[in-house]
Amino acid sequence: MGGTNPYIEKPKVEKATRRFKITFVNLNKTIEVDPDAPSCGTGIPGSVLDIALRSGVDIDHACGGVCACSTCHVWIKKGLKSCSDPTDAENDMLDLAPDLKSSSRLSCQCVPNGAEDLEVEIPSWNRNLVREGH
Ligand code: FES
Repeated sequence: MGGTNPYIEKPKVEKATRRFKITFVNLNKTIEVDPDAPSCGTGIPGSVLDIALRSGVDIDHACGGVCACSTCHVWIKKGLKSCSDPTDAENDMLDLAPDLKSSSRLSCQCVPNGAEDLEVEIPSWNRNLVREGH
C-alpha cells in the first residue's frame, strides 16, 4: 500500500543532489543512496522509509506511508539537520509514538537532502518486524 494523504500539509522537501549514506545502526547495515533512484511508492519519495524499503530494509509502515500512524517511528541519531522539517501532522502522529526523543521522526515523512550521511536507529519494538531482503 502506498500513496499520499490529501488531507495533510505536504512537507517542504529539498531533493538530494548527490549520493550519501544511511546506516541503520541496529542492523549494522549501510546503504549508499542514489538520489536519482526511483521511489518504491511508499512514503514520500526520497524519505528514509522509501530508501529503506527499496534497499531491502523493511520498517513497519501500517498506514502505507501516509502520515496516519506512528509505526514507522525511527530515531535519526546523526544527520537530522539535513532532513526536512516535520509538519504539524507528523508531530501530531509522533505524539502517539512510544519513547519519543528529540531525534524521533516518522521515516515515511523524513526526507534527507544528502548534505550529511545519516545514522538511523529503528526502535526495539519494530526490530522484530525488520527484515533484510537478499
Ligand atoms: Fe504510517 Fe509512516 S507509515 S505514519
